[in-house]
Amino acid sequence: MKKLYCARVPSNIAFLKYWGKKNSQLQIPANNSLSMTLSNSYTETEASTIDGNQHELFYNKERLEVNAPFAQKVSTHLNTLSQHLKINSKLRIVTQNSFPSGCGIASSASGLGALTLSALSAWLDCRSIEDLEKKGFCLEKIASLARLGSGSACRSFFSGFTLWEKEGKVTELFNSKHWQLADTIVLISPETKLISSTEAHKLAWTSPLYSIRLAQIEEREKKIKTAISKKDLNQLGPLLEQEALEMHSIIMTSCPSVQYLNQASLDFLSWFIKERNSRSLPAYFTIDAGPNIHIISEKFFQKTLIASLKKKCSNYAIIPDHTGEGVKLWQKDTTN
Ligand code: DP6
Repeated sequence: MKKLYCARVPSNIAFLKYWGKKNSQLQIPANNSLSMTLSNSYTETEASTIDGNQHELFYNKERLEVNAPFAQKVSTHLNTLSQHLKINSKLRIVTQNSFPSGCGIASSASGLGALTLSALSAWLDCRSIEDLEKKGFCLEKIASLARLGSGSACRSFFSGFTLWEKEGKVTELFNSKHWQLADTIVLISPETKLISSTEAHKLAWTSPLYSIRLAQIEEREKKIKTAISKKDLNQLGPLLEQEALEMHSIIMTSCPSVQYLNQASLDFLSWFIKERNSRSLPAYFTIDAGPNIHIISEKFFQKTLIASLKKKCSNYAIIPDHTGEGVKLWQKDTTN
């Protein structure tokens, strides 16, 4: 019998974006960020200890070569974790996403989150979050370890709405019962992006707009927190849109310039803004580092919204998601 430690970690969508780092090695962000944990978009990862001197990695049922970019990110993170735990045994990691990866649906958040949680559980022989806590690994500590693999991963461990402060603290501000919002993801392109967000973060400081952003970001954070606490979408929505456009302005005015939005994203945004304004639809967009568009609305409005979107985007896949509850961990035995 072999023990498999299985972690499911959701993706998250940032309302206040993490863009630019103070220290890339320690993964210290330049600003606080705030996100909503998702539910249907997640990574599931199984970890088990193996004999041998190398980790084995399977992604979507296929074994990855050690030098594939994703495999390198995974191995580097496993080495960081094993140094932290002072445990040397190697792991077999089997991972899959419920959504297309590398295209702006925060696959690194859920992916590195699930890797961290499953690896720690396998190494420490823990079958639940409570077991990990008893061994000194509370959720906040696990989130901080996940952050070393991918910054946004630390926000995926909690239910509802999470704040990651630039000094390192990660807090669940409101759980998923506080407010159920829908994130309706319009998949403009499922292709993997050419420049990773890790690379593009480094360029933020070269944009002339970046210092202007940092100077006023605390004000925006306060407004976003107030809108969420009051469950006021009319107040939150315009802040989400301004935030996404500001991040993309910085990305585009960095040196060299990076383009994550493509012509189809821009065409969709123009159509959506006209449609929303003319029909007074209570829905607002946000965008991560990719071409896909996330439409945020109240959850009860999602069906009507999807019906309207389908009129325009019959050629794009639509992924309906909503406010989620955070991580899950379980253990199973197998003979394989
Ligand atoms: C645009 O967390 O992918 O999604 O820390 O280098 O792995 P690394 O970057 P990553 O950055 C994501 C940035 C973003 C905005 C956000 O999620 O806050």
